[in-house]
Amino acid sequence: MHMTIAMDGPVGAGKSSVADDVAKALGILHLDTGAMYRAFAWYALEKGVSLDDEAALEALTKEAMPEVAYVDGAQRTSIAGQDVTGLIRTPEVSMAASTVSKYLGVRQGMVALQQKLAAQTPMLVDGRDICIRVLPNATVKLFLTASAEERARRRWLEMNQKGAPDTYEQVLEDLKKRDDQDMNRQVDPLRPTEDAIIVDSTEMSFEQVVEHILAIVEEKTA
Ligand code: DC
Repeated sequence: MHMTIAMDGPVGAGKSSVADDVAKALGILHLDTGAMYRAFAWYALEKGVSLDDEAALEALTKEAMPEVAYVDGAQRTSIAGQDVTGLIRTPEVSMAASTVSKYLGVRQGMVALQQKLAAQTPMLVDGRDICIRVLPNATVKLFLTASAEERARRRWLEMNQKGAPDTYEQVLEDLKKRDDQDMNRQVDPLRPTEDAIIVDSTEMSFEQVVEHILAIVEEKTA
């Protein structure tokens, strides 16, 4: 079996950017599974399907599921023939993704797709249920986290640079709401598995986190 790295963690822990750099350094692909839930949530919003209607959302999975492709090593995510990579980072889609991801009928299809992708090539897969569900036999299992305040601060700075008007308090409140939804849902709630190595980045710089994870991978694969 080729190398697979599973990385879970809450909103704003920096998973995506850390995963990008770690994967690049290791010469493997990075699969951002959050983008798949986001693409599906975007489609549900487009179609006007109520996010409370589990049966309708499950029916929608039969109509369209996200597709992932790589262009110059970077993930592009599409659904129903439309590339939505640039459309799924809004606060509305973030919250909708968290909501649709509560449902077993939605999760099962996503997990199957993710397992198929990771079986094809060495990958670092990031998300919420990767260690427990998607890649239970991953070569390395990581749980990347930081305090809610620090995660909100980073997210707020990033949004601010892009010109978003949200205040720090709004970002913190949104983040806590999404944490609560992701950690307390019935199906595969977000939590570190016993065999995952916890990386708390509250007091670490981005570069330190990347280096620390690369050192863990090296040790595990030596
Ligand atoms: O990582 P992200 O913020 O892009 O993910 C968006 C939402 O998708 C997140 O709030 C919960 C859900 N998600 C999930 O349930 N399981 C995953 N493996 C990835 C994301």
